[in-house]
Amino acid sequence: MDLGLNDKVAIITGGTQGIGKATALRLAQEGARVVIVARGQEALEATADEIRAAGGKVATVSADVSHPQDCARVIAQACQAFGGVDILVNNAGTSAVGEFESVTDEKWQSDLDLKLFAAIRLIREALPHMKARGGGRIVNVTNIGAKAPAARTMPTTVSRAAGQAMSKALSKEYAPHNILVNTVCIGLVRAGQHESRARKMGVPVEQLYTDMAKSVPLGRVGQAEEAANVIAFLVSAAASFVTGSSINIDGGASAVY
Ligand SMILES: NC(=O)c1ccc[n+]([C@@H]2O[C@H](COP(=O)([O-])OP(=O)(O)OC[C@H]3O[C@@H](n4cnc5c(N)ncnc54)[C@H](OP(=O)(O)O)[C@@H]3O)[C@@H](O)[C@H]2O)c1
Repeated sequence: MDLGLNDKVAIITGGTQGIGKATALRLAQEGARVVIVARGQEALEATADEIRAAGGKVATVSADVSHPQDCARVIAQACQAFGGVDILVNNAGTSAVGEFESVTDEKWQSDLDLKLFAAIRLIREALPHMKARGGGRIVNVTNIGAKAPAARTMPTTVSRAAGQAMSKALSKEYAPHNILVNTVCIGLVRAGQHESRARKMGVPVEQLYTDMAKSVPLGRVGQAEEAANVIAFLVSAAASFVTGSSINIDGGASAVY
């Protein structure tokens, strides 16, 4: 299937690890010019080298997307590098969960800054460029807790539910501009965050994945590439009538659609 991504300019936040890196590699493989965004300069360079070695076109932006001025700079640098923006994948994020009474105002604020306000600000900056190009694609990466929040999952589930609501409203508001907005809800997928957690727990990461897989009907944790494939489809010409949708990528784990 031709995904029609050749020469499209795609910004992927959190593009140096896990799902973001896999998405950057997948889109570059389809001919898109990718702009990867993360804080760590070394990982940005290493990922860019990998993309170039596979024949892809890539630019890097070192930025903390929880800072408003960095969001504006991401879009400006993408335009400088490749002349505009067609695709924005808001993927940067980390897990932030705890017992409700233990979550301070500061933790609420930093989670909302990273997972909600980063998307708000990047989308607001990217929209004029997408309109100028006659359309665009936005995918907001959230988690399955956004639709089915469990105990002790705040602030993440609240930030993610807000991301879902924003995506739905944006899909209706910007449909006349041919800007399509969708979300994906991630379940358990192999990524850097689980490797760090295993290190902190002092257990081998494969043992952690085996334990995590017990809650997944397909009996395993997903691969980052499996999430990247769905994201690549959503930003592609093949998904030209799909907007305002939310797709679970979770091996069947979510209790809801
Ligand atoms: N993997 C899962 O099982 C799972 C489950 C549910 C939801 N998700 C969501 O899916 C998305 C991708 O997760 P992942 O597990 O693939 O991530 P990951 O492997 O932990 O990688 C996170 C990426 O985001 C970047 N990042 C983190 N904070 C940032 C900031 N403030 N500004 C810019 N970049 C930042 C990191 O680079 P730097 O640290 O260098 O900035 C890295 O590139 C996240 O939004 C996550 O919450 C994942």
